[in-house]
Amino acid sequence: TEHGLWGGRFQSGPAEAMAALSLSTHFDWRLARYDIAGSRAHARVLHRADLLTDAELSGMLAALDVLEADVVSGAFTPVVADEDVHTALERGLIERAGTELGGKLRAGRSRNDQVATLFRMWLRDAARQVAGGVLDVAAALTDQARRHADAVMPGRTHLQHAQPVLLAHHLLAHTQSLLRDVERLRDWDKRAAVSPYGSGALAGSSLGLDPAAVAEELGFDGPVENSIDGTASRDFAAEIAFALAMLSVNLSRVAEEVIIWTTAEFGYATLDDAWATGSSIMPQKKNPDVAELTRGKSGRLIGNLTGLLATLKAQPLAYNRDLQEDKEPLFDSVEQLSLLLPAIAGMVGTLTFHTDRLAALAPAGFTLATDIAEWLVRQGVPFRVAHEAAGGCVRAAEARGVGLEDLTDEEFAAVDPALIPAVREVLTVEGSIASRDGYGGTAPPRVAEQRSRVERRIEEH
Ligand code: ARG
Repeated sequence: TEHGLWGGRFQSGPAEAMAALSLSTHFDWRLARYDIAGSRAHARVLHRADLLTDAELSGMLAALDVLEADVVSGAFTPVVADEDVHTALERGLIERAGTELGGKLRAGRSRNDQVATLFRMWLRDAARQVAGGVLDVAAALTDQARRHADAVMPGRTHLQHAQPVLLAHHLLAHTQSLLRDVERLRDWDKRAAVSPYGSGALAGSSLGLDPAAVAEELGFDGPVENSIDGTASRDFAAEIAFALAMLSVNLSRVAEEVIIWTTAEFGYATLDDAWATGSSIMPQKKNPDVAELTRGKSGRLIGNLTGLLATLKAQPLAYNRDLQEDKEPLFDSVEQLSLLLPAIAGMVGTLTFHTDRLAALAPAGFTLATDIAEWLVRQGVPFRVAHEAAGGCVRAAEARGVGLEDLTDEEFAAVDPALIPAVREVLTVEGSIASRDGYGGTAPPRVAEQRSRVERRIEEH
């Protein structure tokens, strides 16, 4: 008909500005192949309900095959009069199957249950792809940890030198959060894997169609339990928008460290040429643009989440056209991550660490002060007294402009008589790191065990 899917009760077509506002094919065309998969499944349940003959079913499936090939090749594309991807594809089907047969497919379904189903399908595939990209970043971090199994660095809190740690332990801390991001996406899928197809506009279908058969054909665990919920709910979209925003925030923390580590002041690491950019005016510059775009885009992904939540807030059940605004933020979050993740994996995997400098800085800023206090505790000194004594050592060393290990026996004894020369055994970075050998600590054997557990998790995913 002249007015797409709903011309019957109208005497005129939509105003130009109305149609322009309504149009969504410039973004929902991404759903085209999922729409066709849904149409195949729908044709089969119509057939099983005796609403299509055997011949009609095979004619319908053949026309859908041709339509899909034409969509893939670009021979069939939406036109301005097609309000959305569903309208365009029905026109395409009718052009290929004829008005009589093509016009039968719409029985018992609505764009409301269609779009809710297709969006879930698209997101489930996207989540798997994003997870794959995250695993590549996790593997790059873990590989750096393996290549630098013994390297030490100053661990920081408040960005101030705190206690020495293994570089591998620090890198694996990032891997841990990224693996949680992957697991969050897998966990999301359990809730997303229900099919709204068969919910119709909101009330379900009167045509004896089997939503479970459609769900199974489309790779879902089953159909939704409530047709109103099936068409109205978008918490599956908000939930994955959160998982993606959280992922981008975790990536931004890796990025921020790369930015800091590659400054002249830190000098912890150097970026590979392939993953850095130059300046148009300053010939010496090597800029961490991958890391900065990662940091910047995390703001965008947070915006996509909060924008979607604001769209959903207080919408009455069931479908409202507001819900058409659900797709662009998610398409954008996934698109940004698909650009970012390979670049971050490349940047991290090719980073050169300056382990000598990291080692030289590891004890700086009196990072072994805690070790003095804990050594005293092992001698039976109450921690409150031990903390005070270790602080006294810092004061003495700072006054003389030397490290803790440079204090003389007399200086130690003057701070506290319990500080006998044997305290020196903990005043090395290696000794300090080796002593933190509880589960999850930075001692080399614990970090090696952690790394093999992490490697197994990466492989299993
Ligand atoms: N394009 C719409 C969406 O993305 C689906 C169409 C539903 N339109 C309607 N008038 N019920 O949500």
